[in-house]
Amino acid sequence: MKPYLSFLILFIGVVGLSFGQTTSDIPEVQALLDKMTLEEKIGQLNLVTPGGGVATGSVVSSNVEAKIKAGEVGGLFGIAGPEKIRQAQDLAINQTRLKIPLIFGSDVIHGYKTTFPIPLGMSASWDMELIKHSAEIAAMESTADGINWNFSPMVDIARDPRWGRIAEGAGEDPFLGSAIAKAMVEGYQGTDLTQPQTMIATVKHFALYGAAESGRDYNTVDMSRIKMFNQYLPPYKAAIDAGAGSVMSSFNDVDGIPASGNKWLLTDLLRDRWNFKGLVVSDYTSVNEMTAHGLGDLQAVSALALNAGLDMDMVGEGFLTTLQQSLEEGKVTEDGITQAARRVLEAKYKLGLFEDPYRYIDNKRPKTDILTQKSRDFARKLAAHSFVLLKNDQQILPLKKSTRIALVGPLANDKNNMLGTWAPTGDPQLSIPVLEGFKNVAPDAEITYAKGANITNDPAFAEKINVFGMRAEIDSRTPEAMIDEAVANAKGADVVVAVIGEATEMTGEAASRTDISIPEPQLKLLQALVDTGKPVAVVLMSGRPLTIEALNAMPVSILQVWHPGIEAGNAVADVVFGDYNPSGKLTASWPRNVGQVPIYYAQKNTGRPAPDEFAKFKSNYLDAPNSPLFAFGYGLSYTTFEYSDLSISKPKIAMGDSVDVSVKVTNTGDYDGEEVVQLYVHDVVRSITPPLRELKGFKKVMLKKGESKTVTITISPENLKFYNSTLDFIAEPGIFEVFMGGNSNVTEKVEFELSK
Ligand code: BGC
Repeated sequence: MKPYLSFLILFIGVVGLSFGQTTSDIPEVQALLDKMTLEEKIGQLNLVTPGGGVATGSVVSSNVEAKIKAGEVGGLFGIAGPEKIRQAQDLAINQTRLKIPLIFGSDVIHGYKTTFPIPLGMSASWDMELIKHSAEIAAMESTADGINWNFSPMVDIARDPRWGRIAEGAGEDPFLGSAIAKAMVEGYQGTDLTQPQTMIATVKHFALYGAAESGRDYNTVDMSRIKMFNQYLPPYKAAIDAGAGSVMSSFNDVDGIPASGNKWLLTDLLRDRWNFKGLVVSDYTSVNEMTAHGLGDLQAVSALALNAGLDMDMVGEGFLTTLQQSLEEGKVTEDGITQAARRVLEAKYKLGLFEDPYRYIDNKRPKTDILTQKSRDFARKLAAHSFVLLKNDQQILPLKKSTRIALVGPLANDKNNMLGTWAPTGDPQLSIPVLEGFKNVAPDAEITYAKGANITNDPAFAEKINVFGMRAEIDSRTPEAMIDEAVANAKGADVVVAVIGEATEMTGEAASRTDISIPEPQLKLLQALVDTGKPVAVVLMSGRPLTIEALNAMPVSILQVWHPGIEAGNAVADVVFGDYNPSGKLTASWPRNVGQVPIYYAQKNTGRPAPDEFAKFKSNYLDAPNSPLFAFGYGLSYTTFEYSDLSISKPKIAMGDSVDVSVKVTNTGDYDGEEVVQLYVHDVVRSITPPLRELKGFKKVMLKKGESKTVTITISPENLKFYNSTLDFIAEPGIFEVFMGGNSNVTEKVEFELSK
């Protein structure tokens, strides 16, 4: 090659590289970057919270006003309402040299003021349209209050119900989790981010946060790349492929380097392999926390984070206070700082804030857009769709509307626990308690109410879950007196409905439990009610799968309702009285006991698979079966569904082809109802050990009583691929088994062969 040619290529390469990193394709952003001082660029990387919201770390930001004026703030979170947001934006627009607008973030995890069920509950609806619409409403309401950047969706796969934040995600499965991640991003962002009803979505917590060792929050994660790529990363990638504008780095250690300083994660994987072009924000003080992890002082960890590809520092101010010095000492580059500032500015540009910094600030909108009856009606519908009927042996449910009901339980007439964890923007006092819902839906029923038991009798435990206000109040009466009252009511009724379970803050952030059973006072109450001989329907609230073997052994019906949100009571009543026939299916396995966790359906075989009964030298336990109490995908209905005529469109397909699998579903019971038809694939032989089955498709269908429908699901070539030992995403030829039915245990199968 001629010397001048290689010089030209080198020149283009170098320019291209630095241009690719520091210059923006957006002329407005580039023009601004050209004018900015180093200090102004660093200021854009600073995300602060003035306090007032829920501070999840040990600090909140100080002197926020002065910092905004000094150009030391890129965005705010934890404030809301057009007035407050306007005041803050005014400071940036009128009092800073370059008038760069602020971006306003918030945690709008399951609805803004119209609180929907907790995300784990929403996922149990398996209904992507409903989930997407919940995100649209959340975006409409929060943007009406001036917020344009959402710290949601949380897509962390969780296979350990001890972890309190399992409540915030979509459960254990990467395929379902990916579909939900996409639906939520599309719901928040719409098709045009400059529209004032849409907001930037943040996929979090990148990455693997749900795999914290021992289910203890913030704990270490140590995972093989194969497991990461196949089981844990797909939902983050799905959110990014759907166009999520930002990513939040997680608190946890990944392979010895916490996510916020992990270059492999934030640059090699996220930007280079997945082609993510948006903004990466840290979690709350997660940059600073790398000091506690053992990676050096604030200056060192801040430089580590910037060099890893992190753009915005949430609350910790390590970027603000140390980057300049690091630059002087050669520990970071100016290009690195410019690049991070560029990404912050580009996010603001995408929202249309340069054109109009007040685009999301409209004093009239809160009144028209927030908490409308239409949105509340939708919340009620979504909640009803999220409930899972775990057991209904005696067909106690649905109840007649004109019956005598003893409504009992610590959660039966409660407003404080209906919204669920991470609903800081919602107002618990606006929620509908179950008692009120019952009266609304069944005005002719004769209803008595008794609390019956405390959520917990342990004051020390109660104190820990009452951090954000009273969630678990300990009654001044003795436990016996409370049970006696409930039993007396039960004796005078035709049926008992017991609303029991976890208080809101028994799950969520920093709310891990080593014992995930129903607290003892509530179980005692249950036993006393069952002993009356009256039929008992249990409405179970929780933010996680619980261990309920003892409850399950009782002759009761169990309706799992999670924490159902603002319309809790109405939605529970809709289902209990049969106005809506439950159709939810579990999205995380319910273990028999904590010793079984981590637990998930997509298990691999061992070399010594367990037979049905215990056998020595097989992969089983001495004291419990391997199977969960309730499997992934499980959930009953008031009606019954029969599956037949499973068939496949072709016995053999070529690489790159799709195949259709069909099954006839018949409603054989006495009620109209919806069923979630699920398709699982087993790649029988491949180069790395395959899970025994993996969800690769689902469809929710409505079937009238007696009706049959043939449901067809297409398996696309993508759905046969996996990440192999070199992390290539490929399909391998061979036999695939396909199972189709109403839960992850279905046994009916067909086969096809994928040829070379
Ligand atoms: C949580 C995040 C949240 C952030 C800001 C953190 O403690 O882990 O999920 O977005 O706080 O509120």
